[in-house]
Amino acid sequence: MELKLKDIKKDPRINSFIDQTDKYMHSLGYTDHGRRHLDIVGDRSKILAKAVGLSAKDQEIAAISGWCHDMGNFLGRTQHHYWAGMLFSQCYINQADPVQISRIIQAIVSHDKDDLKIVDKITACLIIADKSDVHRNRVVIKNNKKIKEDIHDRVNYAVTANHLNINNKKKTITLSLTLDTKVTNIMDYFSIFVERMNYCQKAAEYLKYDFNLNINHTKLA
Ligand SMILES: [Fe+2]
Ligand SMILES: [Fe+2]
Repeated sequence: MELKLKDIKKDPRINSFIDQTDKYMHSLGYTDHGRRHLDIVGDRSKILAKAVGLSAKDQEIAAISGWCHDMGNFLGRTQHHYWAGMLFSQCYINQADPVQISRIIQAIVSHDKDDLKIVDKITACLIIADKSDVHRNRVVIKNNKKIKEDIHDRVNYAVTANHLNINNKKKTITLSLTLDTKVTNIMDYFSIFVERMNYCQKAAEYLKYDFNLNINHTKLA
């Protein structure tokens, strides 16, 4: 059996992992790692996979990996990518194509910033999709004071628009952000996002594309 994202989204086991992750991450005061983030990463992974010419099967693997990549956070933040891969395997190992499952697990465990592994085009697509998701809507608002205190909240909250564009003729992948400089400044953005942008650049290079970053209509990379 070939797994499809539309079926996985209805699976109560996967949904309970995501619900638990939501509760855990909210209790830690982290930015959103729930369905909003997962929908964006799943969609972007699939769009990137299609744009770089991957097969329909591989596009589905990219979409599924994107949607499930953070669901292991409730078992521990530092190893959450391995937990997510293990949980995925436990759910489907006896009922789906083992090759498809292996490739999904591999993509999931490859996405973590401290343990990044660009092993194929699917992992490269997932890494760009995940690391490019910075937006005001990721901030879980408890009060205004918290947003100003925490640099991750502040920078995410400052980003009011986020577009990822793939140009197959120019071979560019461009992340365009609108940053509200009343909330934070561009230096704050770079102090926490340089690492993520480097990962996007490496993943784009693997796909044989250039990665560009535009902030407030100015090309910065
Ligand atoms: Fe993650
Ligand atoms: Fe993520």
